[in-house]
Amino acid sequence: MSDAVAQQVEEQEPEVDLSLADKVIDKYIDLPGNLMPVLQGVQDEYGYVPRKVADHIAERLNVYPSQIYGVLTFYAQFHLKPRGRFIIRVCVGTACHVSGAPRIVETFFDKLHIGHAETTPDLRFTFEKVACLGACGMAPLAMVNDDTFGKMTVQRVDEIIAEYNQRPMK
Ligand code: FES
Repeated sequence: MSDAVAQQVEEQEPEVDLSLADKVIDKYIDLPGNLMPVLQGVQDEYGYVPRKVADHIAERLNVYPSQIYGVLTFYAQFHLKPRGRFIIRVCVGTACHVSGAPRIVETFFDKLHIGHAETTPDLRFTFEKVACLGACGMAPLAMVNDDTFGKMTVQRVDEIIAEYNQRPMK
């Protein structure tokens, strides 16, 4: 991991309870090829892979930290920074793009004060622009976690943010 990335990750990292990671590691420690299941398991526990946890895994599995960070940065499924409780995805594929996705993206940026792949400081929302979600007939399309919002409009952005601001964080 580059110094810049390490510093960025460190700045955002809250205290972590390593016992959650230990439970996952204990489950897989004797199995060959255990690195991927361990990383997936800890991400399920923490919602991302905290740096301290990645270092702890390296120690316990007796692998180089660089090997772990290589896997974490290669696979898009892994996240090195805390993620929001609600992941807002706006499709920017061709059909959605021509149906107004850029204005919807900009409106989310303005309202949430974050950009692509960023998370609000209260950890409520993470915003992501994504490629075609496979429902082009509903363009422009947005999702919040597993909820789908077809035929999105700029006006609905406020409603969606308000709705998910009401939801509990757990
Ligand atoms: S381009 Fe947006 S769903 Fe296909």
